This record gives sequence, structure tokens and C-alpha cells, in this order.
Amino acid sequence: MSEQKSTNVSWHDGKVSMQDRHNLIRQKGATLWMTGLSGSGKSTISVALERTLFEKGILSYRLDGDNIRLGINKNLGFSADDRKENIRRIGEVSKLFTDAGIITLASFISPYRKDREEVRKIHEDSGLTFVEIFIDCSLESAEERDPKGLYKKARNGEIKNFTGIDDPYEAPTNPEIHLISDKMSLDDEVKTVLNYLLKHDVII
Ligand code: ADX
Repeated sequence: MSEQKSTNVSWHDGKVSMQDRHNLIRQKGATLWMTGLSGSGKSTISVALERTLFEKGILSYRLDGDNIRLGINKNLGFSADDRKENIRRIGEVSKLFTDAGIITLASFISPYRKDREEVRKIHEDSGLTFVEIFIDCSLESAEERDPKGLYKKARNGEIKNFTGIDDPYEAPTNPEIHLISDKMSLDDEVKTVLNYLLKHDVII
């Protein structure tokens, strides 16, 4: 994924396995990766899912594009390379949370298919559950919502390289879950995700 710069480093195993952790907290971890245009509803769905899981006694944690870009990724912009690094870091952070046993709700535009596939790979190579959720919303609907007024700025040329306007978005070809956020209700979206998690024994 990214070049290994440090040398003479090796993995150090502990004496508590992932299974031990899961038995202790009585839940399994999984990364639910929400991808979609800005304004497609990723954060809204994530917030609703977090609340619903909480009420069922299941611990989840949200990692959200804007929040993460105010902290760990504050040194990254929106060039293709920076977006790749953004997704790489969050992919690794998601992997850690999931390994710890938490349902990780990662909502990032993550416009490049290859970057998302890399995140999937590092999870699956470690035997961790990765669920790609496509928050599908037409550009017209996202632009009409424009919750942060950013589409307007992008159209005026005040913001460059804005996803969907003058920067690409590569839709998933085979996501585990496909939500059409400009047609489905928030309630139905949450139910669809919960049903998937139950059916695949991610939650009980
Ligand atoms: S990603 O492409 O690297 O995955 P991420 O999800 O972290 O993006 O951040 C997207 C958020 O940053 C958007 O919801 C929006 O609020 C803000 N943003 C600012 N500039 C841009 C831009 N040029 N393209 C997309 N989003 C932008």
C-alpha cells in the first residue's frame, strides 16, 4: 500500500488474542466503510447507526471525513495523493478499532476504487470484516442539499478539485450494501445495514 520506510522493525504479538477480546466484550469488530459524494448522507447514516447500535448495547465508533481532517489528517488536502494518504491512514485506524472489537463506522468520500480496495485488503488479510456501503446519491440531489454550501463554492470556482464537479468519484462496482440515499428513508437505510449485520453474524 505504502512504502515501508523504517527498517529493523518487527511485529510483536501480545498474550490476548482477538478472540479473547471479543469474548471479553461480547461483540465482534467490523469496519463499515461508507463511500459516496459530499452531501450524500454518509455522516447522517453513520450517526443514526451509531445511536441504534448503542441502544442495542453494541459499541461502535465513528470516523468521519471532516472530523479526521481536523485532527490526525489536518496536514492533508484534496489532491489525489493526499486523498490516497487520507484513506490509507483511516484504513489503518479502522483496522485497529475493528481488531479491538468495535464496530467502526468510517464515512469518507474515498473517491478512488483502488484506495478503497487497499483498505479492504488490509482488513481481509488480517481476517477482519470489511463491509463496503455505497451511499448512492445523484450529484443533482447532493448539490441541491449542499449542506455546507461547498457545491456553490465549487461551481463559482472558489474551491478547486471538488468531488463530482471537477474531481472524479469512482462508484463501487460490487459493494456489500447499496443505499440509495435520495430515494430511501434514513430509517430504511439503518434497517438495511442492521439486517446485513445480523444475517452475516457481525452482530447478534
Ligand atoms: S476524501 O476524498 O479524502 O475521502 P473526505 O471524506 O476526507 O474526502 O473529506 C470530504 C469533506 O471535505 C467533504 O464532505 C467536504 O466537507 C470537505 N471538502 C473540502 N474541499 C473538498 C474537495 N475539494 N472535495 C471534496 N470534499 C471537500
